[in-house]
Amino acid sequence: MKITVVGAGAVGATCADNIARKELATELVLLDIKEGLAEGKAQDMMQTSTLLGFDTRITGSTNDYAKTANSNVVVITSGIPRKPGMTREELIGTNAGIVKGVCENILKHSPDAIILVISNPMDTMTYLALTSTGLPKNRIIGMGGILDSSRFKYQLSLRLGCSPADLNAIVIGGHGDTTMIPIIRLATWNSVPVTRFLSAEQQTQIVNDTMVGGATLTKLLGTSAWYAPGATGAALVETIVRDEKKLFSCCVALNGEYGQTDICLGVPVIIGKNGWEKIIDFGLNETEQAAFNKSAEAVRSMNEVLKTL
Ligand code: 2OP
Repeated sequence: MKITVVGAGAVGATCADNIARKELATELVLLDIKEGLAEGKAQDMMQTSTLLGFDTRITGSTNDYAKTANSNVVVITSGIPRKPGMTREELIGTNAGIVKGVCENILKHSPDAIILVISNPMDTMTYLALTSTGLPKNRIIGMGGILDSSRFKYQLSLRLGCSPADLNAIVIGGHGDTTMIPIIRLATWNSVPVTRFLSAEQQTQIVNDTMVGGATLTKLLGTSAWYAPGATGAALVETIVRDEKKLFSCCVALNGEYGQTDICLGVPVIIGKNGWEKIIDFGLNETEQAAFNKSAEAVRSMNEVLKTL
């Protein structure tokens, strides 16, 4: 199994570190445009291998895509991160060109790869990866909903005073501060609806805190988060390489599902060795469907911007 992570910044390097620790690949390539950065981080990680006990060979590359040849899975983290006060959407002008170029280069050397998109604005970058490469839709997956769902569980665990591992909760829709939809109605604590334990006010607060989860960290850190995004990228890779058929919220191409077409948006999907394999219909109620439609409208107008670049 060969995996490439494009972008050796904080998110890419953390993702690569998690992939290595979990031994998801025999070969892991970290690639960056900045001279020496990927090589340096790859060497640094390799020097943890005997301490952490992993057997993945990590190499770095400064923009030499030949080194990524025959990758099974490629994670794209390239692009600029947001600064405090910025929305993910404001990154589109810069990141669209970068992501398009990365996809072209990757496919020259790994025509059969499954592509995971983490770069922001993630929903639009996933749509760009899909439309610019013309790859089968199941091989393009945007990573946002799993991360947002993990943040949702974290917020729920704080209010419930329980382990996040005992919670089941999902965020669908866009990966934007105003476009994501944490579905609290369906969240459970060991099978019991969490709504049973939380007041309406608490529920609203949890949903709001989840939606600005990334922005809150950007404010604290001065740049966007990396531990959770990197670990989430690796969790997605794990599900693919181990063919686990896990159900995650991922950004995928919709063709009528959830009432939307010609868009990539976060919905519950089964992930396995072929990429995303099946969209699961959670049966949204009227309010949730209206929120989903609104989210789609916002993402669609972002996608329109691609035509002007
Ligand atoms: C986040 O939400 C980087 O979009 C990512 O932290």
